[in-house]
Amino acid sequence: MAMPRTLAEHDYKAPSKESRTPFKWANGEELWTFLGSHPQRAMNMVVGMKSLSSGSLAGNAYPFGEELAKLNIEDEVAIVDIGGGQGHIMEEVRKNNPGIKGRIIIQDLPSTFEAVTGPPPGVEFMPYDMFTPQPVIKAHVYYYRHIIHDWNDESCGLFLAQVLPLLKEQPKSKLLLVDLVLPDMNVSMQQSIRDFTMFPIGGLERSEKQWNALLNRNGLKIKKIWRESEPEACVECAVL
Ligand SMILES: C[S@@+](CC[C@H](N)C(=O)[O-])C[C@H]1O[C@@H](n2cnc3c(N)ncnc32)[C@H](O)[C@@H]1O
Repeated sequence: MAMPRTLAEHDYKAPSKESRTPFKWANGEELWTFLGSHPQRAMNMVVGMKSLSSGSLAGNAYPFGEELAKLNIEDEVAIVDIGGGQGHIMEEVRKNNPGIKGRIIIQDLPSTFEAVTGPPPGVEFMPYDMFTPQPVIKAHVYYYRHIIHDWNDESCGLFLAQVLPLLKEQPKSKLLLVDLVLPDMNVSMQQSIRDFTMFPIGGLERSEKQWNALLNRNGLKIKKIWRESEPEACVECAVL
């Protein structure tokens, strides 16, 4: 009901948070603010995100152990996981790479941290709205997993702009974005379903061409696409 109605209202253009998404039509609020006022649903969301990533594959698209070992990290911030939910990905990263030194910080909305018990061992929670200036400067890695696909290009531009000045000041810091990178042709049924699932909240999965377009218009480019056993890829970015 919400999908056909909102699509017709907006001339069959892809929904965005500005144009009012099908989710907002059905629930009165956008997903992330809705979760803030519905703690039980927020709990369901974080539990769901964790179960999606279970099976010890979580976070393995990027070889954190090998790559961070090259950086000579001591007690500074090794990784900031922005929109990291209950910290399940970084919990796995710590477990699978005991040699990683430095702090690992999970940033998310205060309502997310109120809904979960935590943080898991070896990581810290920091309430933070990613549309505001990034408070952790000089981290070695800024990591966004399953975040880009939640938003349209305009919104992604707004939160990427919060980290771009830090990358310019500290060229050694890495920006890692983890989501599907769809093929241009022959998208599988599973990939199509995942793309379509993001539609009601104003998000989408992107092809490499769409990733390039998104990054280029925000002063960034693809440095390398890392792949492992996850269907998701890790897009390592560089400043243009
Ligand atoms: C799809 S989940 C991804 C969770 C985790 N990164 C993963 O890969 O399983 C999106 C996360 O973004 C968070 N989020 C949404 N809006 C946010 C904002 N403005 N600032 C910080 N986090 C936000 C949500 O609370 C949620 O935890």
